Amino acid sequence: MPKLIVVTRDGTEHVVEGDDGLTVMEVIRDNGFDELLALCGGCCSCATCHVHVDPAFADRLPDMGEDENDLLDSSDHRTGQSRLGCQIPFGATLDGLKVTIPPED
Ligand code: FES
Repeated sequence: MPKLIVVTRDGTEHVVEGDDGLTVMEVIRDNGFDELLALCGGCCSCATCHVHVDPAFADRLPDMGEDENDLLDSSDHRTGQSRLGCQIPFGATLDGLKVTIPPED
């Protein structure tokens, strides 16, 4: 199963596995990380699944939609690596992806 590396707010790296067909948000949530609230359940309306994505994987991510871009603008912790975890389908092409949970807004 593809691996996802999750860096929590205390800087600790955790390696978890995720099924094809889940989103990055779902992989994080299903592995019990309560720092990622994902309040809207993945329908791109809350921005509480904000993650910073390892730039080495940038060219393997789907393009950012307008809604995602607008929601990320509401975060004080937006950077060039910011994405919403629910908008990134996980799978073998992202095996080894590292995402960092940014500080809470
Ligand atoms: S879970 Fe709400 S925008 Fe991603």
